Amino acid sequence: NLKITIAGGGSTYTPGIIQAILNNIDRLPIKEIRLYDIDEARNNDMFLIIDYMLKRENLTYITLKAILDPEEAFTDSDFIFSQIRVGGMKMRETDEKIPLKYGLVGQETCGLGGFAYGLRSISGLLEVVGHVQTYAPHAWILNYTNPETIISEAVRRVYPKAKMLNACDMTISIEETIAFNYGYDRKNWISEYYGLNHFGWYTKIYDKSLERDVMPEIIEKLNTENMKVADFNAGDKSWQEAFNMMSVITKNFPTNIPNNYLEYYLYPDMVVEETDKEYTRANMVMEGREKNTREMAEKIRQGKTEDVLNFNFGEHGQYIVDMASSIMNDEHQRFMLIVPNNGAIPNLRSDAVVEVPAYVGATGAEPISLRENIGDFHKGLMEAQVAAEKLLVDAYFENSYQKALQAFTLNQTVPSARLAKLVLDEMIEANKEYWPKL
Ligand code: G6P
Ligand code: MN
Repeated sequence: NLKITIAGGGSTYTPGIIQAILNNIDRLPIKEIRLYDIDEARNNDMFLIIDYMLKRENLTYITLKAILDPEEAFTDSDFIFSQIRVGGMKMRETDEKIPLKYGLVGQETCGLGGFAYGLRSISGLLEVVGHVQTYAPHAWILNYTNPETIISEAVRRVYPKAKMLNACDMTISIEETIAFNYGYDRKNWISEYYGLNHFGWYTKIYDKSLERDVMPEIIEKLNTENMKVADFNAGDKSWQEAFNMMSVITKNFPTNIPNNYLEYYLYPDMVVEETDKEYTRANMVMEGREKNTREMAEKIRQGKTEDVLNFNFGEHGQYIVDMASSIMNDEHQRFMLIVPNNGAIPNLRSDAVVEVPAYVGATGAEPISLRENIGDFHKGLMEAQVAAEKLLVDAYFENSYQKALQAFTLNQTVPSARLAKLVLDEMIEANKEYWPKL
């Protein structure tokens, strides 16, 4: 009698997760879905949408609940999917816009925006993990909440034994895009990858059916064809820019394929130039996905259900459902996971939180070691980032302004301590309802 709780149930990502659950109901026979959110209106909207989906698929034996009370939401749950966003899209907007005012990268996970979001997210995640320890200690938490490395670092300091897997869909998404553009089937791939979350590199993409490493030929294509991804995600400027940027980076470091998020760390000035400082990603999401979801709920409320559910589900939902199934059925599927390093990247400090491939089974994640040292360029970049993130988490637990300032200064998108301080001071004001007192 499998029960799952979606923490952040009102999120616009919920329908994608539910669709993936419904498509895999044989592997993951869920009987009860609990939408847990602190925002009652959003949770109720999502209840209507999910209820409609279940009825449409004739899966009315699944119990659906929209819950505000944590005890009711978590008690006896088997899986917690966490996708909370502390402060919502409104605060994401400030994360993006404050740094941009000072000519710095304004992004929700990279740069100072990511650090601001980190200081907000930690309390929210600690609260969810705390509820799970109390009401469902046997449950697995599959976390998507950003910024993931910072959250993992904070959670493991308080709950070192928490049954929690941290995963990001970006690597899957990159692989899908490349496979789609160049006619490969990602299902045949065994990828080698290392880094931090939103900050890593592919070193090998072994294709089982072709029986060879296809990464060199992919790099060749990315370079000569200048990364043609325009037909995919057409109209989504940020994606296109990211991938164009990625091919630039690839030319300089031709042995690895970088995660597209590295553009923010390696080309912060270019990214800022290309960014509209008044209308950021948060605005796009609020006026797009968020608005559409509200309208969809409204249509269902009024009984106008024709052409409702015209969603664009990403890989996000499938990925989290595969992970739950891999735990439950001890499938040992391979995922990229965000885990304590402990030697996975041999010459990187072992207490870093890294993103590497891992097999997932009934006892959790078994990360794969890279089995070789990484070069100084990559190591240097990562070490600065790890140190900055650790300082930020220290700042959270120690209420330390000084450590927060050190973290902001060390962030790889920031060229000057003066700017770091200006942004930090403005962010303290903007986040006073959410951050610990520094
Ligand atoms: C990717 C990243 C996620 C991030 C999301 C933002 O999927 O891996 O960590 O949350 O993009 O997407 P959005 O559409 O909200 O900008
Ligand atoms: Mn991610």
